[in-house]
Amino acid sequence: MQQFNNKILVTGGAGYIGSHTVVSLIEQGFEVVVLDNFSNSSAEALRRVERITGVTLDVVSADVRDRQALQNAFEHNKFDAVIHFAGLKAVGESAQQPLRYYLNNVDGALQLLQVMNDNGCKRIVFSSSATVYGDPSSVPITESFPLSATNPYGQSKLMVENILRDISSSDPNWQISILRYFNPVAAHQSGLIGEDSGGVPNNLLPYISQVGVGKLEFLSVYGNDYDTHDGTGVRDYIHVVDLASAHIKALKVLDDEHGCQSYNIGTGRGYSVLEIVKAFERASGQNIEYKIMPRRLGDIASCYADTDKSARTLGWQAEHDLDDMMRDHWHWQRKNPNGYN
Ligand code: NAD
Ligand code: UFG
Repeated sequence: MQQFNNKILVTGGAGYIGSHTVVSLIEQGFEVVVLDNFSNSSAEALRRVERITGVTLDVVSADVRDRQALQNAFEHNKFDAVIHFAGLKAVGESAQQPLRYYLNNVDGALQLLQVMNDNGCKRIVFSSSATVYGDPSSVPITESFPLSATNPYGQSKLMVENILRDISSSDPNWQISILRYFNPVAAHQSGLIGEDSGGVPNNLLPYISQVGVGKLEFLSVYGNDYDTHDGTGVRDYIHVVDLASAHIKALKVLDDEHGCQSYNIGTGRGYSVLEIVKAFERASGQNIEYKIMPRRLGDIASCYADTDKSARTLGWQAEHDLDDMMRDHWHWQRKNPNGYN
């Protein structure tokens, strides 16, 4: 019989990063309960997680703001920790629907933290984003860089980070890891789970891969006049499976660390848009048509992580390189041209 060490509540566990993390958790012997309202995900993702792991999942279909549903989950389970992925994440949409974003992301975190507190569970790993560094004055970015936000999505992440720092200072029993993800890409090697962007994607890799399968005609490259080596935007792309393993390391470190710590989760390497196009063409054998367009509002030139702290403290570093990321992204896209539908 499988031995479980700890039971983890994973909010947003049906989503892109959540589903990959659930696989890693199960592979590492954790017992998992997923709570998701499926507002941006499909139950099919969880069925596929079950196929990969051979484990039947315990799923609570509820909104993280539903305090009674959360309380019931805590009454039925003794959670060792929570990984909080549940949230809305589209930057552009957040500017059009700020209230929806604050209600979902900030109120969601508040309800969760209150129920955790009421039930004496004070260990949490929170999904933050490199967006909290705003437009950094230099790269690579360390965790001690000043924090700011340029859109409601980024504000919501920063607000939750501040709430976490406040509760940690008020009560030393809290054990909190804030993971600031850089640009998650790719998919599980099985090609069974991956990012289902639904509709026309906003992010670079999902967009390129839809050009690759012929669903979109060409990529718009947003600006080639940035202060970068080829003029296009530079980002730190990180394989979602590496991202998932960072959560396992964070949980393990929390076993004996109190307080609130933030960690950059990236590879520490930046690639330009044009380098990504070339790498994708190499991995897929497809020709990616692109056109240079004006800059996209709110974009910054360069963003990549200093990963020293996560390497030293979490004992974590990314293992997949750019070619692995492109291969696995393409594999998922080719096998699932319509996502989970
Ligand atoms: P996703 O949309 O695929 O997953 C989020 C999941 O949360 C979905 O399954 C959705 O249905 C669920 N959810 C949303 N609101 C909910 C609510 N109120 N109650 C219950 N469930 C709810 O997104 P993802 O890419 O897996 O991102 C996970 C987390 O990581 C998010 O908090 C996101 O802001 C953060 N993040 C993502 C990126 C990225 O580029 N993907 C970068 C940095 C940070
Ligand atoms: N880009 C294009 N064409 C596209 C899409 C993107 O040229 O069709 C460019 C962008 O201008 C940028 C780069 O590709 O230079 C990456 O863009 P993404 O939209 O993939 O990612 P961002 O870095 O803009 O944003 C991501 C997440 C945000 C998060 C941010 C910081 O989507 O949620 O990283 O972590 F806030």
